[in-house]
Parts: sequence; C-alpha cells; structure tokens
Amino acid sequence: MPPERSCAFAPGRVNLIGEHTDYNQGLALPFAIAEGVTVCAEASPPGSPDGDRVRAFARDLHERDEFPLAEPPPAPGWRAFARGIVAELAQAGFPLVGARLEISGELPPGAGLSSSAALEVALCLGLVELGARACPDRARLAGRTELAELCARVENDWVGAQTGLLDQLASLYGEPDAALRIDFSTLQIDPVPLRLGAWRLVLLDSGERHVHASSGYNERRAECAQACELLGVQSLREASAEAVAQLPEPLRRRATHVLEENQRVREAVAALRAGDLRAIGRLLNASHESLRENYEVSTPSLEAAVERLRLAGAAGARLVGGGFGGNVLGLFEPNVRAPAGAREVRPGVGAHLLEL
Ligand code: GLA
Repeated sequence: MPPERSCAFAPGRVNLIGEHTDYNQGLALPFAIAEGVTVCAEASPPGSPDGDRVRAFARDLHERDEFPLAEPPPAPGWRAFARGIVAELAQAGFPLVGARLEISGELPPGAGLSSSAALEVALCLGLVELGARACPDRARLAGRTELAELCARVENDWVGAQTGLLDQLASLYGEPDAALRIDFSTLQIDPVPLRLGAWRLVLLDSGERHVHASSGYNERRAECAQACELLGVQSLREASAEAVAQLPEPLRRRATHVLEENQRVREAVAALRAGDLRAIGRLLNASHESLRENYEVSTPSLEAAVERLRLAGAAGARLVGGGFGGNVLGLFEPNVRAPAGAREVRPGVGAHLLEL
C-alpha cells in the first residue's frame, strides 16, 4: 500500500481595520488573501526507523529539520513552528504519525501578512488529516476555532510572540469577497461582504521586516495588561473612555487607541454594508494616525510607504498587522493609479486541504 499523504494550504491575511484589538477582547475586520503556505505530508512506513520521527524540509529556505514525534525539544526560527504544532496536537489528543513534511509558500516572513499563522495553520491541517488517514479509529474532528487557539499557543509558548487570534482566525475562516467581523470577546465571526467594484485595495511593501517576538509587540501587550490592572477590568473591552482618560501615559494613549479602534471597526462594518468606500478610506487614515501617535508602532519606512500611497491619491492608507515594518494597505478609487510596486489584494478563500 502506498503511504498515506495529505496536503494543506493556509492563506495569509490583511486586516482591513481593527489593529491591536484582538488581545484586548475587541473587534477586527480581516480577510484572507491569495498568498499563503502549503504543507504536504507523507507518512513514514510504520515500523521503519522514521516511524516516530518528523523530517521537515522548508523548500524556500532550503533548510531541514528532524525531531521526535514525542516531546520535540524547542528550536529557533521556523523549526519552532513545526515542533510546536506537533507537540500541541499530541497534547490535544490528535493522532499523529511519523512523517516527511515539505513546506513552501509565497509569503515573506515579517511582511505583516501573517506568514507565521499561515505556516501554523497549514501544518495543523496537514498533520491532523495525515493522522486521521493513518489512524481512522482514533481520529477526531477539529473545530476551526479550536485549531486557531492551538496555533496561537504555539506562537505564544514556542515562538515567544504574545500575539492574539486575529491571524489564525482570518486564515481559517477567510472567504472570497468578504471580510470577517471578529468579536474577540465571544469569538463570534460574521462575514461582511467586501464589494469593491472598480475600487482597489493595494499593498505596498515598506521593505522593513519585523519579528514580533523581539519587536515592541510584547511590550504593547504588557502595557494593555497594565492598563487593565489599574482600571480593575479583565480586558480593555470593559473599560470606559472616562476611566481610560485618567490613566498615566503612555497607558492612556495605548488604551485610547484600542477603544477608538473598536469603534472604527463598527463604523467600517456599517460603511461596507452601506457601500460607502470613501468612509472606509477615512477610517483607514484615522486608524493609521492612532497607530502612529497613540500606539507608537509605526516606523520611518512605514510612514514613507503610507505617504507614497497618499501622494498617489489613495482614499485611505495605513500600516497593517502588528507594525514595526511590513506592508501598508491603500484604498484607491476607480481611475486613480496606485504607485509603482503596489499590488492589488482581494479577499480569498480560507485554509483548506488540497486534492492529491
Ligand atoms: C499581529 C498579531 C495579531 C494582532 C496584530 C495587530 O499580526 O499576530 O494577533 O495582534 O498583530 O492587530
């Protein structure tokens, strides 16, 4: 019998609006994009010396890894993702088998398009499917939200970035022609049609790369936790604007960003439902200003990229993702040309298994 195989694709994401709200139990409006990560897995023959080991090959990096299925030791870089996903899946009771993995993709790391979440989700889907095929009697259903939470644990505990659930949920639930309104206090996800007509959303690369585990990202998250402690609330979702106004700096500005960004998401959903793309442009600009002034996650190269989009006539532009580098997003009305180097982006399908 030929060995069991599986192949899974997981997309990256662009967040239309709602930045640094996910770990504050707030609101966001991301969508999945066409580019992502593909993981193909082939089970090792049972009883072979590889029967209880994973061999992984990262095609784009030309790097390999090899580790035991049971209790893989930690490792830096992309290896942390493969090892962490295997360990967390085992811990959650999914059957796993020794395998060869091949990882490939189109998402540059640190570009603000969630290459990490795409890698985690593709590994997860590929390994769960392979285990289910090889051990049908022990297979169990994997809920998409459960998988998103498992992937986030890998990011937090194995990679060291205290990120929230935005990227994984967007990758797992994405659908064509829609953004996802995510309420992180309930994990309720509602698709909101993103009808652009002749308008275009474009990405422009700032050229700068970030690593959330070592950027100011974890510090921002800690500042929000500190603000909650001072306010006596579980999350900033429960905080009032009046109470936030009394916080010491820089906590006041951090929490103000979060409260106002949640409100911008509500307004963006209403604008999309009303077909008012000009209002979306204004909200993108307001979000960027708050990310720069209040949340302080912009950089000179992000500012230069946003400026290029605005000079070209963008109806709105902002940094996307955690900040500290990566791409910026611009919205262009019909007949206004985006600058050279910008590329169009549209909501695409969420993570799925590929036909073999
Ligand atoms: C990164 C993190 C997400 C989210 C965004 C900011 O993409 O992975 O969890 O916090 O930054 O909105």
